[in-house]
Amino acid sequence: MVQAKVWILTKHFEGFPKDSDFELKVEELPEPKHGGNLTLRSTVCLIRPFSRVRMKEGDAMIGTQVAKVIQSNNPAFPVGSHVVGRCGWRTHTVSDGTDLIPIMPEWPQDISLSLALGTVGMPGLTALYGIEEVLGLQKGETLLVNAAAGAVGSVVGQIAKIKGCKVVGSAGTDAKVAYLKELGFDVAFNYKTVGSLEEALKKASPEGYDCFFENVGGYFSTVALPQMKNFGRIAVCGSISVYNDSTPQTGPYPHLTMIFKQLKMEGFMQSRWEHKHPESLKRLMGWLKEGKLKKREHVTKGFENMPAAFMGMLQGDNIGKAIVAV
Ligand SMILES: NC(=O)c1ccc[n+]([C@@H]2O[C@H](COP(=O)([O-])OP(=O)(O)OC[C@H]3O[C@@H](n4cnc5c(N)ncnc54)[C@H](OP(=O)(O)O)[C@@H]3O)[C@@H](O)[C@H]2O)c1
Repeated sequence: MVQAKVWILTKHFEGFPKDSDFELKVEELPEPKHGGNLTLRSTVCLIRPFSRVRMKEGDAMIGTQVAKVIQSNNPAFPVGSHVVGRCGWRTHTVSDGTDLIPIMPEWPQDISLSLALGTVGMPGLTALYGIEEVLGLQKGETLLVNAAAGAVGSVVGQIAKIKGCKVVGSAGTDAKVAYLKELGFDVAFNYKTVGSLEEALKKASPEGYDCFFENVGGYFSTVALPQMKNFGRIAVCGSISVYNDSTPQTGPYPHLTMIFKQLKMEGFMQSRWEHKHPESLKRLMGWLKEGKLKKREHVTKGFENMPAAFMGMLQGDNIGKAIVAV
């Protein structure tokens, strides 16, 4: 009999999450007796912002992990193989194999499987689709990205450089700004210490921005929109500055700026292009192997520290992808 540890949301989040919102439970899992069933043991769990806004009280925390198959009646997933699964915050899971993504067969031995949760996984895909499918970023254009030192933002800036663009990024600490410069961002600044965000954006690109990859929303968005060039494009990927609000923020509203600058703004979920994932993951892996994409991970050790890692990410502790080594 396998025992699973599972993090449950005991009480719906109100404001910033706190320790008492989470409870660690132990479940006895049934043997995977039926054909097609298998048991997974998580090795690395992804810490992601959407877990703050897409949760129901009493449910296991939603989340993605890299897991090892430890028991199997499913020939597609032999014992010892690894998968990416949307199993939630769980150490062990019984699965029928649907919804599991095998690690690509050509995954190089010298590249950590944890990157299947980062640069060569969902965050990398989000960056790629935002740039190619939503923004249609063209060589020579200027792109702005916020939360730029995070999992998605750091890949956004690097892909934009691969495409021959000027990249401006903002992040919340000087260490993050130094990292963005290492990654080749043309301009990077600390949005918490610049004084005037408007002046910082104007100074970074006096001629304005063709494209804006939006991860933050709220005040940043209000200040950034008037800095767009006419016909600028905005990919709304996330809005992390409002996820912890108990009362929704109101105005100023962007409509007049959008009308007079004739802006195009589109929200998106990376899952829209699921049919392209295998090919896109190969491209991301190719850039990683060529050294065109650099990666960094913020690793917390121990499954018992999942809530602490989650709250740390929401307050900006991470450079690169926040993960938990189980
Ligand atoms: N649409 C999709 O399919 C999709 C998929 C994945 C992620 N997302 C979204 O993309 C964004 C980035 O996700 P990620 O996984 O890459 O996270 P991440 O950037 O690795 O981590 C979150 C970062 O957000 C910043 N942040 C937190 N609170 C903030 C605030 N109040 N104002 C400004 N910045 C704040 C912090 O960095 P600083 O120190 O720089 O503040 C923090 O490190 C999130 O909004 C997420 O919801 C969307």
